[in-house]
Amino acid sequence: MAKQLNEKNSVFIFDTTLRDGEQVPGCQLNTIEKIQVAQSLESLGVDIIEAGFPISSPGDFNSVIEISKSVTWTIICALTRAIEKDIDIAAESLQYAKRKRIHTGIGTSPYHIKYKFNSTQDEILERAVASVKYAKKYVEDIEFYCEDAGRTDNVYLARIVEAVIKAGAKVVNIPDTTGYCLPEEYGAKIKFLMDNVKGIQNVILSTHCHNDLGMATANTISGIINGARQVEVTINGIGERAGNTSLEEVVMIIKSHKELNIGTNINTKHIYPISRMISSLMNMPVQPNKAIVGRNAFAHSSGIHQDGILKNRENYEIIDPKDIGIDNNIIALTARSGRAALKYRLNILGIELSQKKLDDIYEEFLKLADYKKNINDDDILMLAGKDRTESNR
Ligand code: KIV
Ligand code: ZN
Repeated sequence: MAKQLNEKNSVFIFDTTLRDGEQVPGCQLNTIEKIQVAQSLESLGVDIIEAGFPISSPGDFNSVIEISKSVTWTIICALTRAIEKDIDIAAESLQYAKRKRIHTGIGTSPYHIKYKFNSTQDEILERAVASVKYAKKYVEDIEFYCEDAGRTDNVYLARIVEAVIKAGAKVVNIPDTTGYCLPEEYGAKIKFLMDNVKGIQNVILSTHCHNDLGMATANTISGIINGARQVEVTINGIGERAGNTSLEEVVMIIKSHKELNIGTNINTKHIYPISRMISSLMNMPVQPNKAIVGRNAFAHSSGIHQDGILKNRENYEIIDPKDIGIDNNIIALTARSGRAALKYRLNILGIELSQKKLDDIYEEFLKLADYKKNINDDDILMLAGKDRTESNR
C-alpha cells in the first residue's frame, strides 16, 4: 500500500505509458502484456495508471476492464474527450477498478478552438464545464485536461481552470501538447494559475509535457518548482512523436536534488527492470546515451574516468546505479581503458595477477580493443589464459 502523499511535499506520479506511450506506431501491446505492465507499474509505486482511451477501440476498452481487475491500490484512469458517449464508455470500462478516475478534456488553444472545433472560447468553456459535471455522475475523481495549454493564453486558461474546478474537477492537467514551451514559460504558466485561480488550493495541478524540442523533463521540473503536484510521464519517455516526459528522469531528479524537498512513492530499484520490460515488449530500443536507463548511462570508458570511479564512485557518478536496479559491472572495457579498469574486471572474474603479468595482458588487451571496440568477459578470460569454469562468475 502506497503511503498517503502529502501534496505540499510530494508529487503524484501519473503514468501514461499504456495510453499516450502506447499511441506510438508499432508499440501496441495486447491485453495480457498490458496487464503485465500495469502490475509492474503498481510495484514501481506509481500513483495513477492511465490505462487507455476506452472509446477508441474494443481492444482498449477491454484492456481497461482487465487492468482494473488486476491492480490493487493504484488509481486506474481512463481518457475521454469532452463528449458524453466517451464518458459513458470510460465509466463502464472502470467498473472493476478499486480506485478510479475519469480524465476528460478539450483543446483550449486558439489553434484547437478555431481549426479543430470551429468554435469560440465561450463555447469551449461551456463544453468543458458540462463534461466535468457529466463525468461527476459516475466518479468523484475527475481530472480535466486543457489540451494544448502550452499555447493557450494564460488569462483564458485561468478562466477555464477556475470553471472546471467549480464544476467539480479534482485535478487539472496543463499539457504542453506540442512540446513548444520553454521551461521558464511553462513554469510561469503554472505559477500564474496558482496565483490567479480561485479554488486552486483545493485541487492538484498536473504537468503533461511532450518532448518535441527536448524540453519535456525541464518543463516538468519547472512545473513542479512552481506548484504542480502531479506529473504525467511514461517509461523511457515513449509517446507521440518525440515522446512524453520520462518517468525515470523526473523521479531521479527529484531524488538527487534533496533541496527540492519533494518526495514520490516510487521504489527506484524497479526503474531499470521496468525500462527493459517496456523496451522489449514494445520493440522500442532505448537510445544508448538516454539519461538514467540508456546502456551507457553508467558506463565509464575513458581511462581517467575509470580510474576515478574505482577510487571513489562519486568522482564521476551522481546516482548509484544500484538505486535504479542495476547491479552488474558498469566499467566498459575499450581501447581507452587503463590498467586499473582491466585489473578491476579481472578481479571480478576471480583472477589475481602479478603487476608484470597484468602489464603483459594489458598490451594484448589494447591490441584487441583497438580492433574489437567492446571487450567482454570471455575476451578477458582468453587474454588471461583462463576459461569460464576457472572464473568465479
Ligand atoms: O498531449 C496531450 O495534450 C494529451 C491529452 C489528451 C492529455 O495527451
Ligand atoms: Zn500527451
